[in-house]
Amino acid sequence: MDILFLIIVILFLQLGLIWFQGAQYLSTKKTDLEFILNSVNFDSNKVFFDLGSGLGNVLKVVFNKYQSKCVGIERSWLLFLISEILFIGNKKITIRLGNAFTYSLNEADVVFSFLMPNDVKKLSQSISDRLKPGAVFVSPIFRPDLDNLEEINLPSGKRAYVFRKR
Ligand SMILES: C[S@@+](CC[C@H](N)C(=O)[O-])C[C@H]1O[C@@H](n2cnc3c(N)ncnc32)[C@H](O)[C@@H]1O
Repeated sequence: MDILFLIIVILFLQLGLIWFQGAQYLSTKKTDLEFILNSVNFDSNKVFFDLGSGLGNVLKVVFNKYQSKCVGIERSWLLFLISEILFIGNKKITIRLGNAFTYSLNEADVVFSFLMPNDVKKLSQSISDRLKPGAVFVSPIFRPDLDNLEEINLPSGKRAYVFRKR
């Protein structure tokens, strides 16, 4: 009983931490994501990364449509753990407990990241150096501090910003 209480307290503390760190759990709409994937000519041979993958809903949409290799990077161990469990047995979806600002992107063809404005700003400082030539970075809603961005008008009425590494 004491252990159960402790586990519940730890889970609540972790959820509180996610909230107060400004990484509120918001989710990308499926129709918006599909529109983005079409716009960046995603296909089944490409590797998709979600920096800040949450519960892995974005990875699930991409995998269901393309059966492509998908990698999620999540800093919250609780969301990491839940998404790991949700994708047990799926060899094409990998979730890593890690930091969006430092995780290696060598393998990625498309890097999607739905973070809060300050984090988008921070990510903008390193993303170009971390992408391989030809790779694409997509930030929905919040505009990164990068030159030569393409803007996509999404079905929800929001926007996404696309940066292509030359
Ligand atoms: C707004 S949710 C997006 C979830 C999902 N990618 C989507 O678009 O539906 C942001 C997620 O990023 C995670 N996150 C925030 N900062 C991060 C960082 N520096 N490294 C890894 N994950 C981060 C949060 O824990 C949260 O799960």
